[in-house]
Amino acid sequence: MCGIVAAAARREVSEILLEGLRRLEYRGYDSAGMALIDQEHGLRIHKRKGKVAELEKAQREQPYHGTTGIAHTRWATHGEPSGVNAHPHISGRRVALVHNGIIENHATLRAELVEEGYEITSATDTEVIVHLLHRSLAIGGSLLQAMQQTVAKLEGAYALAAIDTQNPDTVVGARKGSPLVVGVGIGENFLASDTMALRQVTDRFIYLEEADLVCITPASVQVYSADGREAKRPIARIEEGLEAADMGDFEHYMIKEIFEQPEALEATFAGAINAQKIEERFGPAAPALFDQVKKVQIVACGTSFHAGMVARYWLEEIAGVSCVVEVASEFRYRKRVQHAGTLLVVISQSGETADTLAALRNASADEFIGSLVVSNVDNSSLVRECDLVFLTRAGIEIGVASTKAFTTQLVALLMLTLALGRRRELPDSRQQDIITALQDLPQCVRQTLELNEAIRLLSEAFIPKRHALFLGRGIQYPIAMEGALKLKEISYIHAEAYPAGELKHGPLALVDHDMPVVAVAPNDELLGKLKSNLEEVRSRGGELFVFADKEAGFANEPRVQILPMPHCPEVIRPIVYTVALQLLSYHVALQKGTDVDKPRNLAKSVTVE
Ligand code: AGP
Repeated sequence: MCGIVAAAARREVSEILLEGLRRLEYRGYDSAGMALIDQEHGLRIHKRKGKVAELEKAQREQPYHGTTGIAHTRWATHGEPSGVNAHPHISGRRVALVHNGIIENHATLRAELVEEGYEITSATDTEVIVHLLHRSLAIGGSLLQAMQQTVAKLEGAYALAAIDTQNPDTVVGARKGSPLVVGVGIGENFLASDTMALRQVTDRFIYLEEADLVCITPASVQVYSADGREAKRPIARIEEGLEAADMGDFEHYMIKEIFEQPEALEATFAGAINAQKIEERFGPAAPALFDQVKKVQIVACGTSFHAGMVARYWLEEIAGVSCVVEVASEFRYRKRVQHAGTLLVVISQSGETADTLAALRNASADEFIGSLVVSNVDNSSLVRECDLVFLTRAGIEIGVASTKAFTTQLVALLMLTLALGRRRELPDSRQQDIITALQDLPQCVRQTLELNEAIRLLSEAFIPKRHALFLGRGIQYPIAMEGALKLKEISYIHAEAYPAGELKHGPLALVDHDMPVVAVAPNDELLGKLKSNLEEVRSRGGELFVFADKEAGFANEPRVQILPMPHCPEVIRPIVYTVALQLLSYHVALQKGTDVDKPRNLAKSVTVE
């Protein structure tokens, strides 16, 4: 989604802003822009449709300079991707503003402003904000006061950064519903959507809280809470972020992140040598809260939702805890009935997904005994607002397609299963089996990564295809869903997943020689049934690609290609098979020549509804 970078410094900031935008590219965007206040206190603005590289080109051809500036990557919501709709937006050649989020009452505000004589030039919801700022400034007062008056009129979500030619060393920001951090420097300060954007200039950050306003100059940072009072916010030192932006010897972040999984998984369960230690990973309040849990309600989006679906099988089968899973965009608007003793579990790599955050915020204390988040980003909104926190240790994930974040979420959820199971008399021997399986996991994933070349060869068959079906049974059904999501997301091949038993209730009609069917077939109790389903596909001319345990008794046959998977403990197979499907999508996308790390229309962190 949109990315913001802003700087108030004593040195030239155009290159800092551009580097910040490059480091935010992973969030997904379709246009970019930058505004600087020049030496004569005039606004200098470049805006371009397309990549940050286009903006850099504009800056090379017509260099603008300044020590105060704002920059933005826009992911279009209101109005097509274009130079006109790109941010910054300006008013009266005096104020410039960038925005992340959606202003829901923009139409009313627009009508009001037009009535007063303001000319609206873009189709965005953002432009009204800059005119409101201008209107407040015109009647006197500081940029900060103008921002306070302006945000009071806004309905919706926003992270904002604004500059004013008559306050030339100041940037003012505000946030509500969208993230914004302050980067604290020496003789310079910054704002950005996330810490990644500023790691080249500082390692000290202030995470703004909901409804905070901030005013930065080269010498000062002042934060104000919603009631207008100056607020003290702690400065956190961040170590991560410098090396994450380096692709090393890999061609894409996605493949780098796929190969980082053994270490990421190990780091996520590190130190959990017994189930008691595992409970500690959820925070000091966890044991008391876990004692009250009778049911779990999981809420998440996209890949994180698939992690929740896998967890449902574990929680019910291993821990004996009833579990339901729902996508956040549905959950948040539905009238719900909850059972007493329900724990709300939200899962989110970024910790900022708008629907998941809204679901948490509208879940009442009457409904849930407490909330737990599984997230990869410390200090994210979800992490700050939940009662219990499990931080996965995937490291920064830059590829839009979630890979190591998903598999580490699964580790976290298996650890939750163990923690809850312990409180329901899960036998010690079973607990130990699961811990041993977790310890085997990095090695099983390494063995799967060794199949990279075999999977690349297999992927060639998908290049001319327009559709694909993914089949799984039981706990491998959500893995089939994740495989299909990954393929459609980065290769743009239409892919759907079905529980294999559902095939003859409709999707079998789609099967012909042009429809590749991917089956996830570990050696479990449902294998016999899955084999029958696969026969149904084969006898209708379908082409099968079976990811099967090497001991499952599958052999290559005409129209059946087998990818023999390492034999590994049953409980961790969903994680291991995921890795193979990630590699499949990656190689298909690579050969189709799509933008693997930044697939079209998608954003890494979905901070608008
Ligand atoms: C995964 O490959 C996707 N890019 C997407 O589905 C993602 O998982 C979803 O937007 C949820 O994000 P979150 O985990 O940060 O909440």
